[in-house]
Amino acid sequence: MPQARPDATAPQRSTSAEPLPFERPTPKPTPEELHAADPLPEPEVVETPVEIGPTGRPMPFFPDPPAVEKHGPARVISMCNQKGGVGKTTTTINLGAAMAEMGRKVLLVDFDPQGSLSVGLGLNPHEMDFTIYNLLMERDVTVHDVIVPSGVPGMDLLPSNIDLSAAEVQLVHEVAREQTLQRVLRPAIAEYDVILVDCQPSLGLLTVNALTASDGVIVPLECEYFALRGVALLKTTLDKVSERLNPDLQVDGVLGTMYDGRTLHSREVMERLVQAWGDKVFHTVIRRTVKFSDATVAGEPITNYASASAGAGSYRQLAREVLNRCHAG
Ligand SMILES: Nc1ncnc2c1ncn2[C@@H]1O[C@H](COP(=O)(O)OP(=O)(O)O)[C@@H](O)[C@H]1O
Ligand SMILES: [Mg+2]
Repeated sequence: MPQARPDATAPQRSTSAEPLPFERPTPKPTPEELHAADPLPEPEVVETPVEIGPTGRPMPFFPDPPAVEKHGPARVISMCNQKGGVGKTTTTINLGAAMAEMGRKVLLVDFDPQGSLSVGLGLNPHEMDFTIYNLLMERDVTVHDVIVPSGVPGMDLLPSNIDLSAAEVQLVHEVAREQTLQRVLRPAIAEYDVILVDCQPSLGLLTVNALTASDGVIVPLECEYFALRGVALLKTTLDKVSERLNPDLQVDGVLGTMYDGRTLHSREVMERLVQAWGDKVFHTVIRRTVKFSDATVAGEPITNYASASAGAGSYRQLAREVLNRCHAG
């Protein structure tokens, strides 16, 4: 009720302890009354500044992937770049471990005769009963004979050592030589959500086998100018494999590694990558840190070795980005 204005004709009360009518304190409304009076509260406008990510594009939010109720069929993804030292093996181990943390059943395939993936998970190259070489070359060896646990729950490994270099030569004489890996992996597809193949640094027959067996390929690229040089050749190889052997092969993404945000150089390389590959470039980049080499020495993924580190966080974000992008698992 509006307060009655004091009437000018009313006798003036000059001295009174009582508050004047217009000074009378109004009783506070109850919360219910407040709600009834205010049909819809004004929505609070919160200005969220758009965060520009290291690739120069707005950084989207990648939600945690939903839990899986049953495993398989797996998406097979190759890590491929004919250049060495760009982070293929590091990405295979750590992306795999991050996906395993998210409840995915992961199989890593060491497809490099140098065996860095196997060594990076703590295996001794001289103490392996079977390696992927036996699986490729011997008809009576099955994928289950060769799979070993990786030490990370939910993640297994097909190990390799220098024997694999002989396979490259011997496979040349095989029938359907480009499809050999695809054939031997087939029984594992139903059991895993993701199979990550760590390729050797070349575009030879082993890499062509990996690409033929894959649904997708991830290209790790060091954030250095000279890293951009080999990209045209890699693109040609990917095109040839999709034309002749695997029409379903997709580029799942291009990953900037060894990124140093303090240098203009790294940022320019990322810009060039986005110009060349557009949305294929992952929003996630992997920064340069010595923690990765330390973790390799320890024979563990960084997600275990330094679980709270920025590097572990980046690979978890990459796992969310890949799972959101490819609907794998
Ligand atoms: N983001 C990174 N920052 C610093 N060092 C890295 C990073 N990623 C990988 N490394 C190191 O660089 C070297 C090469 O990486 P690696 O994954 O083996 O490359 P590739 O498999 O392509 O040859 C390794 O010693 C590894 O520990
Ligand atoms: Mg490697």
